Amino acid sequence: MNVVRPWVEAFAPATVSNLGPGFDCLGLALRERGDTVRARKGEAPGASVLRIEGDGGRLPLDAALNTAAVAVQHVLDRFAPKASIELELKKGLPLGSGLGSSGASAAAAVVAADAALGLNLPQDALVQAARHAEGVACGSPHPDNVAPAIVGGMVLIPSLEPLRLVPLPTPEGLWVTVYTPGCEVATADARAVLPKTVPVADAVGQAARLGMLVHALHVGDLRMLGEAVVDTIAEPHRARLIPGYLDAKVACLEAGALCCSISGAGPTTFALTADESRAKTMLEILEEQYTLAGVPGQGLVDQVGEGARVTSAPLH
Ligand code: HSE
Repeated sequence: MNVVRPWVEAFAPATVSNLGPGFDCLGLALRERGDTVRARKGEAPGASVLRIEGDGGRLPLDAALNTAAVAVQHVLDRFAPKASIELELKKGLPLGSGLGSSGASAAAAVVAADAALGLNLPQDALVQAARHAEGVACGSPHPDNVAPAIVGGMVLIPSLEPLRLVPLPTPEGLWVTVYTPGCEVATADARAVLPKTVPVADAVGQAARLGMLVHALHVGDLRMLGEAVVDTIAEPHRARLIPGYLDAKVACLEAGALCCSISGAGPTTFALTADESRAKTMLEILEEQYTLAGVPGQGLVDQVGEGARVTSAPLH
């Protein structure tokens, strides 16, 4: 007798992490773009990947190396050791872009697998699993892509063990322009250029701006938010990995962006604005600047959005 094993499909959004002073501990979910993962109960115990679409054949099907499978295996090991999950991935996000591509696959995979198994795990368990997969993807289990990809909105992660997720309010009228120039930066490479220690003055400045950023979100002060998005620790070292970045940033700020910085490990560049038409202007400026730098790419105007969710009909 054939047993029907229905698929559960989940979507997880692109994310902008770091947001200036929040290196490795702050990120936001976008609305429009993301990855889709289907999961169903399998037969052989463990997580496996049957198919990947949209990656140009670059991602591994090997479950030990694939972030979606690693994240699901982490869930199985802890909460359903004898279970089996099969996965199919549809990549909507470019690899090595700074939009949390590996994190979105891991986030969508754990949400789909959780629903397929009827586990109803809390968000922090899903974030822990997806974060573990980031360690496999780029050598560091940072949470600042997977937390907003799962929780949605803006999320601060002040502690890893135990994991603390602090959802922050999204101010009214905030627009996010993201532009991915036509070059790739591997997260591992962007982390390798970072200094091992930072001067106390830089650490103090960064902490002060992160505090100001959180305050600005709570009081809905977009101008103050823009002032806070300044990164003196990672950005100076990473800027040189992105052709045209500094000119693009200056052009955005001159045209009235609240701020402009590197999304995650880059090369995606983001600018925050207080209205849609200015956000569209930023898109034109980033397009022009990166074309001048010889690395034209693609961008969009977006807003802060929800976290990963099941997009197929309920199983029961
Ligand atoms: N916080 C991480 C970094 C994000 O900047 O390296 C990588 O996607």
